[in-house]
Amino acid sequence: MSTTEPATDNRTVAFVAGATGYVGQQVVRQLVAAGIRTIAHIRPDSNRLSEWWTRFTELGAEPDATPWTLPAMATTLKGLHPRVVFCLLGTTRSRMQSLARAGKDPAAASYESIDYGLTALLVEAAVHAGNAPRFVYLSSLGAGPNPKGAYMRWRTRAEHVVLGSGLPYIVIRPAMITGPDREEERRSERIANALVDGALSLGKALGIEGPWRRYRSIDAAGLAAAMIRLAMDPGAANHTIEREELVAEAPEKPIR
Ligand SMILES: NC(=O)c1ccc[n+]([C@@H]2O[C@H](COP(=O)([O-])OP(=O)(O)OC[C@H]3O[C@@H](n4cnc5c(N)ncnc54)[C@H](OP(=O)(O)O)[C@@H]3O)[C@@H](O)[C@H]2O)c1
Repeated sequence: MSTTEPATDNRTVAFVAGATGYVGQQVVRQLVAAGIRTIAHIRPDSNRLSEWWTRFTELGAEPDATPWTLPAMATTLKGLHPRVVFCLLGTTRSRMQSLARAGKDPAAASYESIDYGLTALLVEAAVHAGNAPRFVYLSSLGAGPNPKGAYMRWRTRAEHVVLGSGLPYIVIRPAMITGPDREEERRSERIANALVDGALSLGKALGIEGPWRRYRSIDAAGLAAAMIRLAMDPGAANHTIEREELVAEAPEKPIR
């Protein structure tokens, strides 16, 4: 199942990889609301494929389940000529552990194969699209020089692929991403976020504002709004943006 039809209207096209994720769903919703032709990618091996297909269709987006192979993804992007490709993918340690518990190879859900591997594949496919779409990459605070740990190392390598691609890009490095509707399995993460935010706010109240500015969590809806604004702003290409600047980027009104 894939959406490879060329644009039949003059609307801007946005392709969203990771559309089923917490941030991805927000981005899809807000792109559709802004009148942008939104292609919401669902991985073809998702056990919720038909559910997501229906949900995105009802939302006004166009679902797409192009396989995660370079020839297939390049063909899809070449057909769509998106102005923007959002890369909002990522695995978690618990996904790796679930695979191991099920007797499967956890490497299939490793940071190397997902956070880095699928990003690199999508970058290459976007280059093949031929129209130099802007590549919006959701990375993480901590990526960059001297990354600590496997997650940050693979994020940093993925950023290098994005920056070296020749595509116009926006790299976003948020701290924690929160929201009231995070799934229940993320409960412990939510509690940890609340504790960290509390400590940062206390520090701010005591006059230590720097860490609060840099490390406090960001709401997924605000993050999505900021990413979309940056994606569509002709003057915003080729930037790496961290937490403090993201706040300034969140628009007060929905974008048109
Ligand atoms: N959460 C945070 O606090 C935080 C902070 C900074 C940066 N980030 C980064 O921001 C990104 C998005 O965050 P999020 O909270 O929206 O994550 P999320 O809800 O876990 O979404 C991850 C997305 O990646 C897809 N994905 C995961 N494994 C895949 C696989 N094997 N094959 C294909 N697709 C796969 C998921 O598809 P399925 O739904 O089909 O599994 C989903 O669409 C993540 O990469 C994360 O590292 C997160």
